[in-house]
Amino acid sequence: MAPNIGRVSILVALAAVSIVHLINSGSLNGLIEATTGHVVIDESRLANWANLPDVANGQCTVDFVANACEDVNVHAASSTAFLTCGDPAGRVQWFPSSGYQPTTNRARFEEQYFKVNLKTGKRTELMLKGLPEGHDIVTHGLDIFPVEGDDSKILVFAVNHARERDSIFIFEHTLGTNVLNLAKSVEHPAIKCANSVAAVGPRSFYITNDHYYPRGILRQLEDKFGPWSWATSVQHCAVDEQDKVTCKEVTHTMPCANGLAVAGDRVFVGDSKNGSVSVYEMINKQPNDLRRIADIDVGAIADNIKILAGTQDPLVTVFPDGEELPLFLKDVSALGKTVFAPTAVLRLRADKNYTPELILRDDGKHLTDMTAADIDPKTRTLVGASFLKYGGFAVCKLPSSVNLS
Ligand SMILES: *[C@@H]1O[C@H](CO)[C@@H](O)[C@H](O)[C@H]1NC(C)=O
Repeated sequence: MAPNIGRVSILVALAAVSIVHLINSGSLNGLIEATTGHVVIDESRLANWANLPDVANGQCTVDFVANACEDVNVHAASSTAFLTCGDPAGRVQWFPSSGYQPTTNRARFEEQYFKVNLKTGKRTELMLKGLPEGHDIVTHGLDIFPVEGDDSKILVFAVNHARERDSIFIFEHTLGTNVLNLAKSVEHPAIKCANSVAAVGPRSFYITNDHYYPRGILRQLEDKFGPWSWATSVQHCAVDEQDKVTCKEVTHTMPCANGLAVAGDRVFVGDSKNGSVSVYEMINKQPNDLRRIADIDVGAIADNIKILAGTQDPLVTVFPDGEELPLFLKDVSALGKTVFAPTAVLRLRADKNYTPELILRDDGKHLTDMTAADIDPKTRTLVGASFLKYGGFAVCKLPSSVNLS
């Protein structure tokens, strides 16, 4: 038997080598793409807000202490912005949504959280308590949630990409302090390529996974042959009294689920490849039972979604002129200096069938490669977060021409 096995393995090896050769020469790409569910997106659908003049960006100040802020959430009652920030150089070594593989030659990744008082402009780094010594902290999506019966506290939900696995951190925060106390780190096989998080209860939340495979050779194939129509979706996860975590897929699958936000019993999910936002409604207010009620074309790559305090309209941050990620990643220090990525914030008006309306546009001078923006109506400020850049967020005073009601 042995000689046969030898011959078979040689044949298998030869076949593998020829497949790799065919893939590299491009001859097999079309066939593989066609059979794997590769989605072709009509680029002209993503150019609705391209090449327009700037809007409402005249009074923006960039913060150069916090870097690489992917997400921001405004706590409107206290006019405080919470931001998940980090290290542009580290993100080029390990950031799962950009396709980087874990590096082993580094002891630890230690990214940061900040808050900004929007009445005074003061920025404060938040100290994390309760994490195991040496734990990787690589930030991404963020959400805040009220503590029932106690207005002095909030919960902060945050995606974390440790090299071993993703988790969702749930922190308790007393307003006015500079501490985030880890109350729970939630892990589950369905939390694998997490991007955004949106809380619906003290131990209940949605996440988007932006890829199907987090790492390894299969991820390389996904990056090469995707995006796939079946690859990404929204999971609802909850932790019960016995500390058991259950997750359930609650939306259709899409090429690249990304932004996520909840307003009442509506759930908004953005697709960054398809340039669309899908609107779901909870059936009988059950967060794990959703009905899709609309698909909105937003006309550009759609990143994070935040909810405008007061009107409850979704605010979608988009890349009006596209996102040249390979170029940005090649030299993150050039971002906002010699390499600019224009940005725009759209408001989807619920009273007009979620028709997108342009709130702000910047050619990249102040806000470049922006992945999220939230607004505090009381102080009329917009906080925009840039996920790869040195100078990680900007605070903009909005002119009176911007209607926030
Ligand atoms: C892309 O968005 C459009 C419009 O919102 C929607 O009709 C379509 O189903 C989406 N395509 C995919 C592959 O999700």
